[in-house]
Amino acid sequence: MKHFLELSEWSAKELRELLDLAVHLKREWRSGGNRPVLAGKILGMVFQKPSLRTRVSFEVGMKHLGGDAIMLGPSEIGLGKRESIGDVARVLSGYVQGIMARVFDHQHVVELAQYASVPVINGLSDDRHPCQAMADMLTIYEHFGRLEGLKFAFIGDGNNVAQSSLLACAQFGLDYAIASPEGYELPSHFLDKAAPLIQKSGINIQTLRDPIEAVQNADVIYTDTWVSMGQEEEVKTREAKFAPYQVNAQLLTHAKPHVVVLHCLPAHRGQEIADEVADGKHSLIFPQAENRLHAQKAILVKLMG
Ligand code: CP
Ligand code: NVA
Repeated sequence: MKHFLELSEWSAKELRELLDLAVHLKREWRSGGNRPVLAGKILGMVFQKPSLRTRVSFEVGMKHLGGDAIMLGPSEIGLGKRESIGDVARVLSGYVQGIMARVFDHQHVVELAQYASVPVINGLSDDRHPCQAMADMLTIYEHFGRLEGLKFAFIGDGNNVAQSSLLACAQFGLDYAIASPEGYELPSHFLDKAAPLIQKSGINIQTLRDPIEAVQNADVIYTDTWVSMGQEEEVKTREAKFAPYQVNAQLLTHAKPHVVVLHCLPAHRGQEIADEVADGKHSLIFPQAENRLHAQKAILVKLMG
């Protein structure tokens, strides 16, 4: 059974095929609609955290492909509390043809996959956001017409989005730089685990403190919230630590003139991203959000088709 839990579990070739499929499905949708290749199939969507993009794009994606989706919010199934994760996975497998889950602990989505007899998709965990990273690669590819050899600069927290971005860069051949304040770097256990993939990819990686250094020569600048879901109690400390890490017009002057800016959203305007950038000519944040739909359709077709 194939799952989509993190990008290191798929080969570069498979991910490239997924990207090509996303391009195809987007074109097909725009020229009149997708073929109902998932007719009669239902996706169960398990959410332990809030969502706009992930929830809507998966549900709409299933409907465009002839299937349907059901939403299971945090108060409904009590994953691992009302019932064990293994039991939830086995019961759901009898009703739906695929499970998408947004969880806190990454091990919970791993455990769902372990017990499910249908494909499981990670719709964000504390450690990874692989569906986001596929939409990001699609957005960059559409803009530049290529991925290999570009430089991707992540400004901010070494969080789930930063980690999946690095794995995506390694799989698709983009150089990667990250600038984070002390104590908020990419975790060393993540870098150790990703080391073989990075080595194989041959990409250049920079882990830095200085955002200006990180964006030197960058084709893509990426940022995300300073306070991820589940870290709300740390908001004061984090806002103080991350203040010098805002992506604003001044920072953009240090990148390539054609640099594009991405953000997975939701954005905290005036914090990690200034309005002038979010709404400026370098920003691709809304096409990027739309691409969640197209990239995920490819994942759904590949796993459930
Ligand atoms: N980028 C993203 O995953 O957005 P949501 O949290 O709204 O799903
Ligand atoms: N890092 C953020 C991403 C939100 C899409 C979070 O986990 O809350």
